Amino acid sequence: MKLQFLLLACTVASPLALAAPPPVDPAMLELADKSRCLTCHDVDETVRGPAWRDVAKRYRGKPEVEEVLVAKVYEGGGGVWGNDYMSANKRAGIDNIRILVRWILSLP
Ligand code: HEC
Repeated sequence: MKLQFLLLACTVASPLALAAPPPVDPAMLELADKSRCLTCHDVDETVRGPAWRDVAKRYRGKPEVEEVLVAKVYEGGGGVWGNDYMSANKRAGIDNIRILVRWILSLP
């Protein structure tokens, strides 16, 4: 009886699971948090900065932008998404920024 209930619950819940955005790598979120990106960014929602899935969509198929974005996050910059400006993130370190930008660009 219990098992049947569980099976039923799974059948009912699965369309919701399909509608939810794909899960994100918790280790990357932790690095983003430690690097203070999450005060202005979210994977799925625009905060002060653009949602990272939107960033991935914008640059899909353009691997040449990776180093440009790494430099921009490190130095700070603006003019692409609106009127707001991203301050420099030098304290995060260029290596962490490269890891994060690569991950952001690979988001489904
Ligand atoms: C003070 C707020 C703030 C912080 C902190 C911040 N960002 Fe941003 N970020 C922004 C804003 C605002 C933009 C949009 C800039 C623009 O329109 O060109 C942006 C844009 C971006 C973009 C897209 C740039 C482009 O040219 O399309 C990436 C990638 C990005 N941020 C990654 C990061 C990462 C990684 C971190 C952490 C190391 C971080 N950001 C920290 C505010 C922030």
